[in-house]
Formats: sequence, C-alpha cells, structure tokens
Amino acid sequence: MPLVNTKEMLNAAYKGGYAVGAFNVNNMEMVQGIVEAAQEQKSPLILQVSAGARKYAGAEYLTALVDAAVKTSDIPIALHLDHGADFEICKACVDGGFTSVMIDASHHSFEENIALTKKVVEYAHPKGVTVEAELGQLAGIEDDVNVSSDDAHYTNPDQVEEFVKKTGCDSLAIAIGTSHGAFKFTGEAKLRYDILEEVSRRLPEFPIVLHGASSVVPEYVAEINKFGGDMSGAKGVPEDMLRKAAEMAVCKINIDSDIRLAVTAAVRHYLAENPKDFDPRKYLGFARQYTKDIVTHKIIKVLGSNGKA
Ligand code: G3H
Ligand code: 13P
Ligand code: ZN
Repeated sequence: MPLVNTKEMLNAAYKGGYAVGAFNVNNMEMVQGIVEAAQEQKSPLILQVSAGARKYAGAEYLTALVDAAVKTSDIPIALHLDHGADFEICKACVDGGFTSVMIDASHHSFEENIALTKKVVEYAHPKGVTVEAELGQLAGIEDDVNVSSDDAHYTNPDQVEEFVKKTGCDSLAIAIGTSHGAFKFTGEAKLRYDILEEVSRRLPEFPIVLHGASSVVPEYVAEINKFGGDMSGAKGVPEDMLRKAAEMAVCKINIDSDIRLAVTAAVRHYLAENPKDFDPRKYLGFARQYTKDIVTHKIIKVLGSNGKA
C-alpha cells in the first residue's frame, strides 16, 4: 500500500474513539521495530521525522527507509514532518514525498501563526498533503525552541474555531499539560481535560493531536539506571490518562521519548551483560526488539488502534 496522508486515518480514529500513534524515527532499527509492531497488530501508523532526524540521518535515507517499510507491509502508513519550524522545511518535505507536515508556529503571535499555517496549507493541500498546526505551547524542548515549564501556555479554546477556519489545517496540536522529553512532571501528573473538552465542543469531529505524550515507561528507566545510566526523576504521562484522551478528541499521539528509552535500555542491558561482544547487529537487534515490544504495548494498551488498519 502506498504512503497515505493522515486525513482518513485520523477521521476514523475520531469516530472509533482511539488514536493513531505517531512515532519519531531516526534510524533503520527504529523504523523496522515500529513497522513490524504495527503490521502485526494491523494498526494504522504515522512515522514522523523531526528536523533533528533529517539532520542526523539525511532526508533521503529516512524517506528510503520508510519506502522500504511501505513495500514490506500492507498497513496504512503516513510519513509526517514533526515540528516544521518554517515554510521552507514544510515545502521541502512536501516536495520530498512526505504525506503530512506539521507547521509549528505556536511560538509566534496568533496572527502570524494563522498566516504561516495558511501558507503551508495552500502549498500542501493541492498536493494531497495534510497539515497539522499548533496552538498553545508545551514545556520542554520543541526542537530548537526551548520552552521552560514556567512558560507552558495552555491552548486558549476561544481561539480554536477562528484558527481552524482561517487556516484550513487538518488537525490541531494543543497544550493541556504534556511536555516533551523524559522529565514531564515534578509532582503528580495532571492534564487539563477541561480544555480538551472545550476545544472539541468548539471543533466537533476535528482531530486533536497530543505532543509530549510518552509515558516514560518506569521499567525502562529502572533498567537504564540498573545498567549504568542515571535517569533519576524521569516521569511521563500515565497510560490511563492517555487512554482517556484517546477516547476523547485526541486522534494522534506523539511518542518519541519512550522509543529512545527502550533503545537505551536495550543497548545498556545488552552491553553490560555481554562485555566481550562488539557486533552492532547484536545490541542494535536487541534495541529493535525492544522498540517493537513497546510499540506493540502502546498500540494495544494506550492507543487502541489494533485491528483498525
Ligand atoms: O518533539 C520533538 C521530538 O521529540 C523530536 O526530537 O528534535 O531531538 O529529534 P528531536
Ligand atoms: P515525547 O517526548 O513525550 O515522546 O513527545 C514526542 C513528541 O511530541 C514529538 O513531536
Ligand atoms: Zn512534539
């Protein structure tokens, strides 16, 4: 099945009360582990690439890896640009075969965010590419933009109708208390479901996106710490809170940190127990298996997208 955009998969997710996982990829083992899990679970899938990933692996290599994934599977897969910072990177991705892009102009003024998002939509839509936009700002690292937790700005529901109407975007990322990275909460995890509810009341049947949605799986954190790492204080969004969001209007859930933790736990564990081994296929193969395991778990227990392909 060729790459698809996110239109149908997110609409179906809305109606079905589940979410599609959007997993960040940076190398072959990550792509393979994620795609094998989604294929086995018959789940729709979004593979997303950040500016950092493009810089690390090279745009051509990443699209070629995703191409290979598409050829060896039969589930709907979208290739999505994560946190596109400006029009130029969105255009490059549309021209380079991506089927979906995010324009992240949330740190600009409301008017500038509208103007830039609209410009991307006008370029992307005629080419069949869907556009995700963002209103409100998450704490943590947004690629090159570092927003401290004191600066977290929740999405203002009063702005969403005007924003979607004026931009024509296909989905909207909102800030309700999640943040990027492995250190999301110092105290109790808290999400503003009231904001999510109000946004969806104002945007009926419109797909909402949740960034910064890793659970920071405690078992991986413990494994990393056991085998020489130090991730003390790492904390993510509890799975039941994500499940609740997926049953509401959240149709796309972004997961990067949990894959990073799985890979790191696997590599540390393998090398600690096999100090004489120096074959990267061994420890990266182990990392690929961990990636597959965590994605399978997410699909079944958090997203509810199994069997929906
Ligand atoms: O939301 C940001 C993602 O976690 C991507 O992170 O820019 O380090 O690839 P990255
Ligand atoms: P996490 O850091 O919680 O995995 O969030 C990833 C993300 O939002 C990518 O856009
Ligand atoms: Zn994000």
